[in-house]
Amino acid sequence: MPHLLHIDSSSRCADSLTRRIGAQYVAAWRRTNPEGTVAYRDVTEEVPDLVSEDWVTGVFGPADHHTPRTRAAVDASATLIAEVEAADVLVLGVPMYNFSVPAAFKAWIDQICMAGRTFAYDENGPRGLLAGKKAVVVRASGSDFTDPAFAALDHHAPYLRGVLGFIGITDVEFLSVNGPAREQIEAGLIEADRAIAASLKVL
Ligand SMILES: Cc1cc2nc3c(=O)[nH]c(=O)nc-3n(C[C@H](O)[C@H](O)[C@H](O)COP(=O)(O)O)c2cc1C
Repeated sequence: MPHLLHIDSSSRCADSLTRRIGAQYVAAWRRTNPEGTVAYRDVTEEVPDLVSEDWVTGVFGPADHHTPRTRAAVDASATLIAEVEAADVLVLGVPMYNFSVPAAFKAWIDQICMAGRTFAYDENGPRGLLAGKKAVVVRASGSDFTDPAFAALDHHAPYLRGVLGFIGITDVEFLSVNGPAREQIEAGLIEADRAIAASLKVL
């Protein structure tokens, strides 16, 4: 039975494009996967912890340095990691903020990147441990980053491809709405429907 994890990270609610399009994507996925299950997390409602000294000690420090606080920090990460491990498909609603991802989403990334759990180093270098998953990133931005004037400022898509690939999620698709397309979608969601349909290969 396929399982989907849906994450939202826009600070906007009713007006958010990434929330609307992500929800549409998940609804379409449910239609094509009637047996499937869905988990949802809004990282703006419950912002993941920032990496703390307790977390670093809990993950990297020797066992005799561990305390109830370091264990709690690692347990909080482990909860988020377990949600990702359980998923076959991740739908990540991630607007562009200041040419990168929202801070709450970055906090989530920092919690799920854990040595020995989601990535490891061996004689061949780094190895992602979350293989076999697909990620769909629903992204919205004000500027059109296909415009060469803006392309160099895009620290969103390259970063997400890089960090997701680092933990083993190499099948990453972007549903990206920006610039003029974004305005059309805000007006009627027509383009978004088409992008979602093409991505799911339905309709
Ligand atoms: C705090 C903030 C920072 C933003 N920074 C950028 C940016 O660097 N580049 C850009 O093209 N758009 C930027 N935008 C525009 C958003 O990416 C755009 O409004 C998008 O639709 C937000 O996603 P949402 O509709 O899901 O809330 C920013 C918006 C906000 C609120």
